[in-house]
Amino acid sequence: VNTQNTTMWHYSNYFVTGVEYTLLISAVSVVIGVLLGTLLALMRFSKNKLLHGLAVAYIEFVRGTPLMVQVMFVYFGIGIIVNIPALLSGIIAVSLNSGAYVAEIIRSGIDSVAKGQTEAASSLGLSKGDTMRFVILPQAIRNIWPALGNEFISLIKESSIVSIIGVTDLIYQTNIVRADTYRGVMPIFITMLIYFVITFLLTRVLNHYEGKMKHAR
Ligand code: ARG
Repeated sequence: VNTQNTTMWHYSNYFVTGVEYTLLISAVSVVIGVLLGTLLALMRFSKNKLLHGLAVAYIEFVRGTPLMVQVMFVYFGIGIIVNIPALLSGIIAVSLNSGAYVAEIIRSGIDSVAKGQTEAASSLGLSKGDTMRFVILPQAIRNIWPALGNEFISLIKESSIVSIIGVTDLIYQTNIVRADTYRGVMPIFITMLIYFVITFLLTRVLNHYEGKMKHAR
C-alpha cells in the first residue's frame, strides 16, 4: 500500500476543522466589518469636522498598516489587560480591519453615482435625506453589494494571518499536518486547493446574485 499518499486522508478532519474556523472568522468579521464600515462611511460624509476627521484617520491608519501587525497588536495588547482567547482576538482584529475597507467600498459606491442625479433630485425639490434614500442609495447599492462579496472573499484569504497567534484556522491546521506527517509540501498544496475551491464556488454564487440585481432595474 502506498502510505505516502493515503496518509493525507487520515488528516482530513484537521483540514475540515481549519476550514470551519477560517469560514467562521471571515463570516463574523465581514458582518461586523459591514456594520463598522457603514458607521465610518456615515461619519466620513458627516459635516461634523471631528467625526469626519476621526473616520478618515481610522480608515487611513488601518489601511496603511499590515493586517499581521494589527492581529498581533490586538492579541498581545489586550493580553496585557485581560487574557482573551486567540480566536476572539483574531475576529476582533480582522473585523476592525475590514471596517476600514468596507467604509471605502461604501464611499466609492456612493461617489460612483453620477452627480447629475443629485442635481436632478434637488431641482425636483427633494430634500438631502430623501435624495440619499430614494435616489443615490438604490443606485449605489448595485456597486456596493458585489464589492462586499469581494470583501468576504478577501477575508477568507487574508484571515490566514490569524494562524500566527495560534488560531486553529486552515493555515494553522496545515502546519500541524506538516509537522505530524513530516511532509512539507503536500499539506500546503491541499490547502491551496481548498482555498481555491471555496473562493471559486463563492464567486459563482455571488455572480449569480449580482446578475439577478442587474435585471431588477
Ligand atoms: N493584505 C493586506 C494587509 O495585510 C490587506 C488585508 C485586509 N484586506 C481586506 N480587504 N480587509 O494589510
